[in-house]
Amino acid sequence: MGKSIGIISIKGGVGKTSCTANIGAALANQFGKKVLIVDGNFSAPNLAMHFGIFDYQATIQDALLRKTPVQRSIHKFSENLHIIPAASESRAITDHYRLNECLQPLKEFYDLILIDSSPNLHGEILSTMIASDELYVVTSTDYPTLSTTIKAVKLAKERRTPIKGLIVNKTRGKSFELSLDEIEEATETMVLGVIPDDIKMLEAVSKTTPVTSHAPKANASIEINKIASYMADEEYKDPRLLNRLKSFFFKGDVRKDEINRVISKQEE
Ligand SMILES: Nc1ncnc2c1ncn2[C@@H]1O[C@H](COP(=O)(O)OP(=O)(O)O)[C@@H](O)[C@H]1O
Ligand SMILES: [Mg+2]
Repeated sequence: MGKSIGIISIKGGVGKTSCTANIGAALANQFGKKVLIVDGNFSAPNLAMHFGIFDYQATIQDALLRKTPVQRSIHKFSENLHIIPAASESRAITDHYRLNECLQPLKEFYDLILIDSSPNLHGEILSTMIASDELYVVTSTDYPTLSTTIKAVKLAKERRTPIKGLIVNKTRGKSFELSLDEIEEATETMVLGVIPDDIKMLEAVSKTTPVTSHAPKANASIEINKIASYMADEEYKDPRLLNRLKSFFFKGDVRKDEINRVISKQEE
């Protein structure tokens, strides 16, 4: 049985869709997992666009509203990577348990189901939370985003959906940014991935190609592979020579998320 993973935040523009698309693609392409990614942003969807899919025979709303069986909404992007898009015209989804009902039977066919959440606090995000076995909260290194991340963590705890950890996105390595320690302390949640602000991410979107395929050596691609390898429970070695040397010679100088991933796997 596959696992469902919700990628959430209650702020737009933080990187939920980028993480879902790119981590999903890395899981399928680099680690050979059978992956389904689902657009859970029913009112402002754009997950499928990351893959150049604009024309759908059926969408998640058709399944949620019982117009078609959920299998008809599945688009096969590649052998291992399937996508359920959402329709851009919004149709009110009032039953927040319905997404879970639709996705449960699909777990038999996939190793991992990733759900790209809406930031909509009281509505659509609940559908993602209820349908997810575990959650990752996407955040960034500024106070406004941190304040919403604290709220997202609180909400997930209230709903009793386990939060696996944080993905800190768009880091710039500037001294004014919140540190990983500060973010962990404020949210009481482990950082399990750090993705730099990388122009290759934007370039990849313009080519409707996952960044790990468009620019495999880009820093963002390597960090995305690390997160995917953690989710897939597979080995992955940072191919950047400088990083390999650093971890060999300066064992104390390893970034927080690298250590957290190891600790978290030992605890599983
Ligand atoms: N690590 C990154 N580096 C550069 N740009 C990024 C990165 N992550 C996301 N973006 C860009 O930021 C914008 C918002 O990202 P998106 O994934 O749509 O956020 P959300 O789904 O949380 O609203 C998009 O233009 C996306 O290409
Ligand atoms: Mg989005």
